[in-house]
Amino acid sequence: MNAPAIEAIDLVKQFDGVTAVDGVSFSVPAGTVLGLLGPNGAGKTTTVRMMTTLSTPTSGTARVAGYDVLEDPDMVRRNMGLTGQAATVDELLTGRENIRMIGGLYGIGKKDLARLGDQLLEQFSIAEASDRPAKTYSGGMRRRLDLAVSLIASPPVLFLDEPTTGLDPRSRSDLWEVLRGLVAGGTTLLLTTQYLEEADQLADDIVVIDRGRIIAKGTPLQLKQQAGNASLVVTVSHAVDLPAARDLLARTGSEVHVDVGARQLTASADGIADLTTVANWLQESRIEVDDIGLSRPSLDDVFLSLTGHRADDEEVPA
Ligand SMILES: Nc1ncnc2c1ncn2[C@@H]1O[C@H](COP(=O)(O)OP(=O)(O)O)[C@@H](O)[C@H]1O
Ligand SMILES: [Mg+2]
Repeated sequence: MNAPAIEAIDLVKQFDGVTAVDGVSFSVPAGTVLGLLGPNGAGKTTTVRMMTTLSTPTSGTARVAGYDVLEDPDMVRRNMGLTGQAATVDELLTGRENIRMIGGLYGIGKKDLARLGDQLLEQFSIAEASDRPAKTYSGGMRRRLDLAVSLIASPPVLFLDEPTTGLDPRSRSDLWEVLRGLVAGGTTLLLTTQYLEEADQLADDIVVIDRGRIIAKGTPLQLKQQAGNASLVVTVSHAVDLPAARDLLARTGSEVHVDVGARQLTASADGIADLTTVANWLQESRIEVDDIGLSRPSLDDVFLSLTGHRADDEEVPA
């Protein structure tokens, strides 16, 4: 196990009597990705602000790259990058000028900065637009520039607050690719998201928060398993085989649901072992199948089972 690159230790934040973050603790091993998942108002931004020295915890603390946010805020800032929910690029400056300006603030020399700037602009696919003012950029390009800017000082730890909110699906998957590249290079990532799919795609571990509290932790797979069993779904090629196939599936001991129109049978399954067993039985009985597979609950199902409401519900019952 790698040493933790990020730790939240019983973080609490109150705003005039309202508790936005209510005792949040987790740790992120170096070189991994943590997805902080929760609906609007869950406390994600407030947590990130405390962990990046932008806001002082009411109680508790956090460590980034081994430095305490309360005791060593300068060292924390030197070891991290942050991309906020709203892009922070200067709209009037070009992409290249944005990078130059922030690089200058970090005290990076002109020559190094020029080389680094070219490299980042290329890496984030904004090279062609690098000499246009950022206000002419699309939403996806702005996010990428924002990310490029936050990487100028090559921080080992990167915080991304809803990096893909508002992006179209194409820009979103482009950005995921960029983030995977960073992680492959050793960066530790904490990203907040409202998108269950995003956490599923990128995160090694997920912390689910709702109303300031952690309601679940685990790998994407563990969380999905928590939401219930996987199901085994078999589509037979010929409807006449449905009764025989049903009897076979029933031998696993689970109840079988038959959808005649779709020639499909569904039974709950423990995992791959059940899948293999049933596939063998079907073959031995010479029952032709169009498809056989394991279907796991989505993270949406997980959220529903944990909180009793969907992640995108407007009205959150008290
Ligand atoms: N500066 C602030 N003053 C008062 N309340 C705040 C402030 N910032 C956030 N909150 C409240 O704290 C809660 C969590 O907000 P936030 O951390 O922004 O959630 P998220 O990022 O998950 O959407 C919300 O109820 C929000 O209204
Ligand atoms: Mg937020």
